[in-house]
Amino acid sequence: MTAATATTADTFRPVLHYAARNTWLNDPNGLIFHDGVYHLYYQNNPLGNVWGNMSWGHATSTDLLTWTEHPVAIACDENEDIFSGSIVFDRDNTSGFGTDSVAPLVAIYTSAFKPGSAHEGIQAQSLAYSLDGGYTWTKHSGNPVLTRSSAEFRDPKVIKYDGGGGSYWVMVAVEAQDFQVVLYKSDDLKNWELLSTFGPANGTGGVWECPDLFPLPVDGDPGNLRWVLTVNLNPGGPNNGSAGQYFIGDFDGTTFTSASTVTEGLQDPDRLADYQWLDWGRDYYAAVSFSDAPASRRLMIAWMNNWEYANHIPTAPWRSPMSLARELSLQTIDGNLHLVQQPAGDWASLASQESFCLAGTTIDGAVQTLAGAAGTVQRIDVTFTAGSAEEFGLILRGDGQKGTRAGIRPGDDTLFVDRRESGQTDFHESFASIDTAPIRPIAGSYRLTIFVDRCSVEVFAQDGQVTITELIFPAETSTELSVYATGGTATINNFQVTQFA
Ligand code: FRU
Repeated sequence: MTAATATTADTFRPVLHYAARNTWLNDPNGLIFHDGVYHLYYQNNPLGNVWGNMSWGHATSTDLLTWTEHPVAIACDENEDIFSGSIVFDRDNTSGFGTDSVAPLVAIYTSAFKPGSAHEGIQAQSLAYSLDGGYTWTKHSGNPVLTRSSAEFRDPKVIKYDGGGGSYWVMVAVEAQDFQVVLYKSDDLKNWELLSTFGPANGTGGVWECPDLFPLPVDGDPGNLRWVLTVNLNPGGPNNGSAGQYFIGDFDGTTFTSASTVTEGLQDPDRLADYQWLDWGRDYYAAVSFSDAPASRRLMIAWMNNWEYANHIPTAPWRSPMSLARELSLQTIDGNLHLVQQPAGDWASLASQESFCLAGTTIDGAVQTLAGAAGTVQRIDVTFTAGSAEEFGLILRGDGQKGTRAGIRPGDDTLFVDRRESGQTDFHESFASIDTAPIRPIAGSYRLTIFVDRCSVEVFAQDGQVTITELIFPAETSTELSVYATGGTATINNFQVTQFA
């Protein structure tokens, strides 16, 4: 147990993102919208700011932007750590945990059994239930409810399946070391029957963790649904370390099939760019979606960190923020289906200052710092048209020429975030990096929406077709916002900055 010690003034505490008050967090767990409230549970060390004593912390929000922390929801004990999982609203009390008047919320989590416990060395799935809307939880006396006698069986995401094959609960979980998603069904959340397995496929450079499975309309057509299977893997991401991949396909109630799977030449470095990634940045991991979000929206949150350096990032007394919530859609782009992600939330209501606007400006050569656009928590909407420049973009949280660069290299269809001069980088050898993603112009333009917070940058490019999410640790005094072009010209067609602090 490591007590949380404050080593810096708390200048990195995010404004638009959730971070625990004074403890460690990793994966989002049990995301659910219930009785008008978004519940965010998460892997939490209630006693320190490094990984350990894994329990489910708890926060709530009504707008996905401002969060209230609550007491630990499900705590570890001498037998088990409480690893990742999900929550369902058991409307019909199929589990029997409810009463005549209250239908239960049921958490399905991984029991990581400790040395000396009856199931030592095993990871198995267990239940807890809440009869007060998610604030207090009781562990089921019959735990665990599903074991494969495996040491690496974890991260159950449970959904209600209603389709051709019937109506029942479906669990997706992983055999992490086998790069496999395992699917189970149940009528009562207690008795589970194996349906099928999926994988290995595509990214297999590290363990598979935290899967999710959900349907989405194609191009907004509710009569044309496809299923999306998301799988986080660590390491093996396109820019190293932790990342999330997805597969688009069909689920018939038993088996998930996808045409986008590659099973030969797995983890061939030349193939990584062909796979479909939730985010190309270094800090978007363990992403999962909300159950029961209003209007059938598919909303996702990820842990904004990377296991390569997670325990070392220079924040205190807390450690690790969550990403913004994102709304997912499926769109046909150049004849292929892709997940598209938009930041979710009522941004306008939080904005604290008039927007800064700039239009129709050609940039050339030198860095141009924008008077009146400085800030530490901001949303930037900008559209560039390439000219003769080999590279153009923005310098965020800057100080003179230094800062975090987010830009485009049109000649090689590359979007990038360069955080080598972003501020503190020396706390871990792999942190300073340039991270890239493929990008294509749309009608000759590149549109970027960028959220800058006290310790992060999230780039949504081409209206969410490609995203890069990265932590940064700039000096408090690095507040400048600049544009630049190297080796020629580029044009800014629209530029709007909204300040949040
Ligand atoms: C992913 C993960 C999960 C596990 C949890 C433990 O980051 O390794 O597979 O349930 O973290 O904290």
